[in-house]
Amino acid sequence: MAQYTSANDDREAALQREYMVKAARYVAALKEELGRPPKCCVVTFGCQMNARDSEKLLGILTQTGYEPTESEEDADFVIYNTCTVRDNANQRVYGRLGYLHSLKDRKPHMRIALCGCMMQEAAVIEKIKKSYRFVDLIFGTHNLFKFAELLVTMFENREMIIDIWQETDRIVEELPVRRKYPYKSGVNIMFGCNNFCSYCIVPYVRGRERSREPGEILREIERLVDDGVVEVMLLGQNVNSYGRNLDKPISFAQLLREVEQIDGLRRIRFMTSHPKDLSDELIEVMSRSDKICRHLHLPLQAGSDRILQAMNRRYTKAQYLALADRIKTAMPDIAITTDLIVGFPGETPEDVEETIDVVRRVQFDNAFTFIYSQRTGTPAAAMENQVPAATVKEEFDRVLKTVQETARARAALWKGSVSRALVEEVNEQNAALLTGRLSNNMLVHFPGDSNLIGGLVDVSLDECHGFYYTGHMIRKADDTLGKTVDGNG
Ligand code: SAH
Ligand code: SF4
Ligand code: F3S
Repeated sequence: MAQYTSANDDREAALQREYMVKAARYVAALKEELGRPPKCCVVTFGCQMNARDSEKLLGILTQTGYEPTESEEDADFVIYNTCTVRDNANQRVYGRLGYLHSLKDRKPHMRIALCGCMMQEAAVIEKIKKSYRFVDLIFGTHNLFKFAELLVTMFENREMIIDIWQETDRIVEELPVRRKYPYKSGVNIMFGCNNFCSYCIVPYVRGRERSREPGEILREIERLVDDGVVEVMLLGQNVNSYGRNLDKPISFAQLLREVEQIDGLRRIRFMTSHPKDLSDELIEVMSRSDKICRHLHLPLQAGSDRILQAMNRRYTKAQYLALADRIKTAMPDIAITTDLIVGFPGETPEDVEETIDVVRRVQFDNAFTFIYSQRTGTPAAAMENQVPAATVKEEFDRVLKTVQETARARAALWKGSVSRALVEEVNEQNAALLTGRLSNNMLVHFPGDSNLIGGLVDVSLDECHGFYYTGHMIRKADDTLGKTVDGNG
């Protein structure tokens, strides 16, 4: 593989911009033919990383002259950015491809592309080649930065284009991005994962862990802030191991300290934290910060030591509980959320009891509970003691019930308090209400004018509805933040 240099990556970005100009000619010709600007639809499956990647795809598509649409039916170009973390994600893609086929039958000029994690699996590619011949372009997670070039290849060929790389050492970022929200943005700080939890396919489809240079991350955030962003979400599969493999190693906590210094940036979030790597330095930096949100997503996966070991998570129940304790002692108002898997091979009702015990003891503010899904190629998929679906369903319901109880109890604690919210949007169900997100990631709906969107307001949390609040605005809080721990913000 070629030696990694960022000069190389800058050259690549320049090359891709040339391809955008070329692709724009094909899009202009299509516009002529249709008598209107062609439309594109980017559909995202999966996690925040995929959502960020989709913003890059949309950036390039709009740069070449496509207009965005949310509806596949209206679109002349549809791209599915896929996820393969659990089988139901894959099934959703296959289901929707059937629908796309019927659209393409009516609109032969329509182009269809697939990218993302699912495409890194050889069996998926075989299936698409066999049963979904109408797909025009397929690429993977490692060559997304080549999208402009791939578009040109697609326009110049009638047959299916497939380009999947097994890995990359490139980090090409200087390409157009079209953000979904004007006021908040994801920022990739690292790619890939080295942890190889035994159930998980991510390391196989996203490759080895690579951190971006801190300077590049800071410059990107500064540019985002200049463009109106007040909240960033730093993204990585395990942000706590950020920076270890850089030429000049730096810890995630150190990176946060620097991000905090950026003037005009009001809120910092990050995800995901692996419990085995969460440092006391990070707890310290968080607890002293006005900008870092009071929320930690700290996937537990399971409470039983035996299962944790079989999962290759590299912490014990006691270690997790002690960590949660340290976090809550340093920041009593923090929300801790988690991911849980039920039905890992060999998991017994007693093991599930251990998971439930941790849920009760930590009092998670929220938890995503998943049914274990067998992923081909992972060590767990080859384990012999797979749990029957009916048993798993029962255990799953038990865990879910406890999770909902603790989440409700936690949410109820805030009743009557005043809390700061970033106003995100007009409420989908009731246009008289705005929806704001609190530092602890809870949502609050309150009456207000849409010109508040993107601003910070203080809201009284009047009624708790399980996991969210309704309330009323006390005041705009726009000039109250911005001081950093070092006092020079
Ligand atoms: N890097 C993150 C998680 C990425 S995947 C982390 O380590 O926390 C998001 C979640 O999907 C995981 O936390 C896990 O709970 C779930 N997950 C991953 N593989 C799964 C599988 N095979 N079956 C069920 N859930 C799975
Ligand atoms: Fe998957 Fe584990 Fe990596 Fe998370 S840390 S992406 S669960 S292998
Ligand atoms: Fe899915 Fe890929 Fe994210 S498998 S969860 S989209 S890293």
